Amino acid sequence: MAFLVVLLVLLFTKPGFSQKTDSNNTNVIAMRCGRNELVNQPNFIKNRNSTFRDLRAQLLDQRVLYARAQALSSGDSVFAAVQCRNYLSTDQCVACFDESVSELLICNSGNGGFVSFDNCYVRYEDYAGFYNDPYVMADADQTPTLTCGNESASQPTVFNQVIDAFLSDITKATPKTSNFYVASTRQITGENKTVYATAQCVEGMAQDSCQTCMNSAYDTLNDCFPNTQGRFFHLACFARYSDTPFFNVNQTIDITNLLKGDR
Ligand SMILES: *[C@@H]1O[C@H](CO)[C@@H](O)[C@H](O)[C@H]1NC(C)=O
Ligand SMILES: *[C@@H]1O[C@H](CO)[C@@H](O)[C@H](O)[C@H]1NC(C)=O
Ligand SMILES: *[C@@H]1O[C@H](CO)[C@@H](O)[C@H](O)[C@H]1NC(C)=O
Ligand SMILES: *[C@@H]1O[C@H](CO)[C@@H](O)[C@H](O)[C@H]1NC(C)=O
Ligand SMILES: *[C@@H]1O[C@H](CO)[C@@H](O)[C@H](O)[C@H]1NC(C)=O
Repeated sequence: MAFLVVLLVLLFTKPGFSQKTDSNNTNVIAMRCGRNELVNQPNFIKNRNSTFRDLRAQLLDQRVLYARAQALSSGDSVFAAVQCRNYLSTDQCVACFDESVSELLICNSGNGGFVSFDNCYVRYEDYAGFYNDPYVMADADQTPTLTCGNESASQPTVFNQVIDAFLSDITKATPKTSNFYVASTRQITGENKTVYATAQCVEGMAQDSCQTCMNSAYDTLNDCFPNTQGRFFHLACFARYSDTPFFNVNQTIDITNLLKGDR
């Protein structure tokens, strides 16, 4: 375990995410390039391209929202994964994947990289643990990213209370779902306003790791209040709330049963 931690610290040594807003108003929530040098960079890039093609084909052909791929030729192994949010269509998922790949092309000189948008998360690396070890996925010694909106709720006290309870419920429910995914809405009491929220841990993650990450999301998102939008990203887990709809109301997951016994 100590070895793993050292390895993970080495993979991404310098803090600081690059953040930007692109022209489609689609935010890069977090991005990082690995900084370890490789023995044979061109071969690594060739393998990386091959895993990207493989992932894209899986998203399209199998209509999945989570895919993994590896390319091991000539020893410069690349492992890669993509996770789209479950409210997306295949086309939307592939569009987010393509955007991710074009961002990640700048990571040409290191041993991997990751990027997260609102709609998906893509990571590749010369190390398989991040996608096949249910306990490593979540704790790669990275600082979580919090992004708040730029507008405050008109009734902060009520808003804070409602959103706090809402996010608390989502935090409890997400690790209990079969696919670690929740999308839900809640009315702001006394206001004609609905807040949308989603949370997701990547498939294959350990349930208690998902719970730990969700607890962190809940604690961290509090810092956005009474902002009408907040996003939390920590590698394999993601949570977001907004008073602007970002999925259809008919795509919500009923979490009532998952909360029984908690109240
Ligand atoms: C931006 O818009 C273009 C053209 O519609 C599209 O091809 C591209 O995938 C979009 N990027 C994102 C991040 O949605
Ligand atoms: C990898 O893919 C990028 C983007 O499609 C391309 O520009 C580059 O030439 C490819 N490199 C290799 C070694 O295949
Ligand atoms: C918040 O940001 C959006 C998008 O960048 C912008 O259109 C809007 O005017 C901003 N609102 C305020 C209150 O700054
Ligand atoms: C609530 O808001 C919706 C959408 O903004 C609007 O269509 C509806 O008329 C409003 N209802 C009331 C009771 O104000
Ligand atoms: C959900 O709502 C959207 C938009 O109103 C609609 O296009 C879609 O067909 C609905 N899906 C289902 C399963 O009802």
